[in-house]
Amino acid sequence: MTAIRIENLTRTFGAVRAVDDISLDIRHGELFTLLGPSGCGKTTLLRMIAGFVDVESGSICFDGRRIDALPAHRRDTGMVFQNYAIFPNHTVAENVAYGLKARKIPAAEIVSRVDKALERVRLAGYGPRSPHQLSGGQLQRVAIARALVIEPAVLLFDEPLSNLDAQLRTEMRVEVRQLQQALGLTAIYVTHDQEEALAISDRIAVLRHGTIEQVDTPERIYRMPQTAFVAEFLGSTNMVPGIAGAFDGHNTPVAAAGTEFTVRGEVAAPGTPVLLSVRPEALQLRDGSGGSLVHARLALREFLGPVQRLHATLPDGTPIRISALGGQALDLLPGAPLTLAYDPAQITAYPAP
Ligand SMILES: Nc1ncnc2c1ncn2[C@@H]1O[C@H](COP(=O)(O)OP(=O)(O)O)[C@@H](O)[C@H]1O
Ligand SMILES: [Mg+2]
Repeated sequence: MTAIRIENLTRTFGAVRAVDDISLDIRHGELFTLLGPSGCGKTTLLRMIAGFVDVESGSICFDGRRIDALPAHRRDTGMVFQNYAIFPNHTVAENVAYGLKARKIPAAEIVSRVDKALERVRLAGYGPRSPHQLSGGQLQRVAIARALVIEPAVLLFDEPLSNLDAQLRTEMRVEVRQLQQALGLTAIYVTHDQEEALAISDRIAVLRHGTIEQVDTPERIYRMPQTAFVAEFLGSTNMVPGIAGAFDGHNTPVAAAGTEFTVRGEVAAPGTPVLLSVRPEALQLRDGSGGSLVHARLALREFLGPVQRLHATLPDGTPIRISALGGQALDLLPGAPLTLAYDPAQITAYPAP
């Protein structure tokens, strides 16, 4: 297991600051995800750690040892690429053996290590096959075996599942997570898929324009996003503009959408424009009164099986999405008044842009 420390890492391409002064501490045995939209610098950062992109300034240490000037093959990392990077004219076993041959491992040892790596990814016996005979999911497992076979201290994944269909992707991410935990390896996982990041990570760094917006556990990133960008990027949310009122020692009232929301804590100086993030599941349908409530009117109900998505409008007409359990409110018709209860701690407020 290996802890990774990244300090003030920067890489520019012409006028683009692809990685802009990033510092991160990644713990032993952690699956750490770099999450962000296309072009935010995820691949550049990962490739700097792997040794495929030169560091312009800053440093990378594995267990306190500086590695950023070492060639890629001496960094003790295994990388799994988005497009698999499988050689089509070689057998599965030859593909997996690639890194071992490059390291001049004796032939007999190569055979046994390749077998073991294929077994780990549930492809025992596939060694003699041609890659053409394999499905997309199997090819990706070959790519993982090829990264594992060198017994790296750190596994690096660059959007490894994005070429697979949706169902296989959700199955494979579980396999990746189980394998990483079983081997106890430190892993850095790049994705632009927020659900994938939430599902498999110990911690997530959300990147934007080459910088870090927030580093936290999936739960905290989702429930306590520190910026409006993180709130919108992770899951769906309603962004409602408003004006902060006076903090009463516990909560701040925010006038928004023709009504008032109560937000836990001190939000901003009274009179300041803010943006509220209201998760669709933070609002609960209620009959009675009590607690923090807002009123809305139903516009459209989507029945999705386990849940329903209610499209409603707040008093001034601002649209708001609410998720309710599948069996709730099935008799509600468009135009019906809704009373929505919420916990002020579930609403987050940001400075208006
Ligand atoms: N080799 C390169 N030459 C020029 N620009 C690059 C190069 N690699 C990446 N970039 C630019 O750096 C930025 C970050 O790219 P990248 O790290 O691939 O982002 P991501 O993986 O998050 O989509 C983008 O603006 C991209 O165009
Ligand atoms: Mg990328």
